[in-house]
Amino acid sequence: MPIGALMLLAGCGSHQETKKAPAPPMTITMDGFGSTAAGETVNLYTLSNTKGMEVKISTWGGDIVSVKVPGKGGKADDVVLGFDALDGYLKENPYFGAIVGRYGNRIGKGRFTLDGVTYRLATNNGANHLHGGLRGFDKQLWRAKEMPSAEGVRLDLTYTSKDGEEGYPGTLTATVSYTLLGNENALQIDYEAVTDKPTVVNLTNHSYFNLAGQGVGDILNHSVTILADRFTPVDSGLIPTGELKPVAGTPFDFRTPHTIGERIGAKDAQLAAGGGYDHNFVLNKPAGDLALAARVSEPTTGRVMEVLTTEPGVQFYTGNFLDGTLTGKAGKVYGKRSAFCLETQHFPDSPNQPEFPGTVLRPAGRYRSTTIYRFPAVP
Ligand code: BGC
Repeated sequence: MPIGALMLLAGCGSHQETKKAPAPPMTITMDGFGSTAAGETVNLYTLSNTKGMEVKISTWGGDIVSVKVPGKGGKADDVVLGFDALDGYLKENPYFGAIVGRYGNRIGKGRFTLDGVTYRLATNNGANHLHGGLRGFDKQLWRAKEMPSAEGVRLDLTYTSKDGEEGYPGTLTATVSYTLLGNENALQIDYEAVTDKPTVVNLTNHSYFNLAGQGVGDILNHSVTILADRFTPVDSGLIPTGELKPVAGTPFDFRTPHTIGERIGAKDAQLAAGGGYDHNFVLNKPAGDLALAARVSEPTTGRVMEVLTTEPGVQFYTGNFLDGTLTGKAGKVYGKRSAFCLETQHFPDSPNQPEFPGTVLRPAGRYRSTTIYRFPAVP
């Protein structure tokens, strides 16, 4: 039974002068999701709007556990990979739906120098640091608070990462706000962070999408557009070489729609390095502007997802390392390329790449980043 139900009026308080009828109520409810090995209680929040979208978020890892959105004929499906029970998330898994931090993506050799001091981070991906280390933000319990919102229903999650955690300097307090919008089917994620010492920050969400529905085959028929003229080629350890390479004439040119499968098997050194697409794209839009980064459509359900972000880059990952060893929600087995990720971010290894947009946060500053996953109505 849901507890702590909170009814909100979407749009309440805004545009009153237009005398629009108030939108129907949206809901946010909380259920228990189990407990960690240390005995901490984990909760699962359900956010619903009246256009048929429902999102479930766990306080463990801030995981997006499910995203139900309508497709053709109004049929709703869950479009993200994950587990039915907390246990799956507590075990090793490839960051299903998780908040990734303190630094999303890779930092070469797990080290960087800031203000003349070299910091050594946990290495958990060969010689490199990946997604915050051995115990990143995805493996932490977040404090949840339901917040008022004029746009929809909002849940704030907060986590304080101690000075030295995974090797990073400074105590960093991060707040991630999930807002399910009321006037359209969209999930907005706002990230904020403050620190007491200079540090590096790069937060993202690691949802694995399959717009046909989670566990429904592979994503090779999905058509993708990424508004990027350039991408960051990588070495064999998936660390950027530093080059911003034009996508023109390569399988990385998604400036017009292409299915994922069309060129994923092409003879190309970069595709070989990633085992498919596992690359950061340099978005064309002005830095800091919230604008369209990517659009994905799925032919059988008609479902479309648009990704808008303030970030300068997006990691397009096609689930190349999924290999059928994980069984997820409703007993579905997650095989190779059964989902894709669009992780909005600053570029990988930025702390070691002076030419890339900076990721340093200082005590006087405030880290801010917004991403929206939007699902336009399917005719
Ligand atoms: C990385 C992949 C990695 C996956 C799961 C993605 O962000 O780019 O290389 O396998 O996360 O860790």
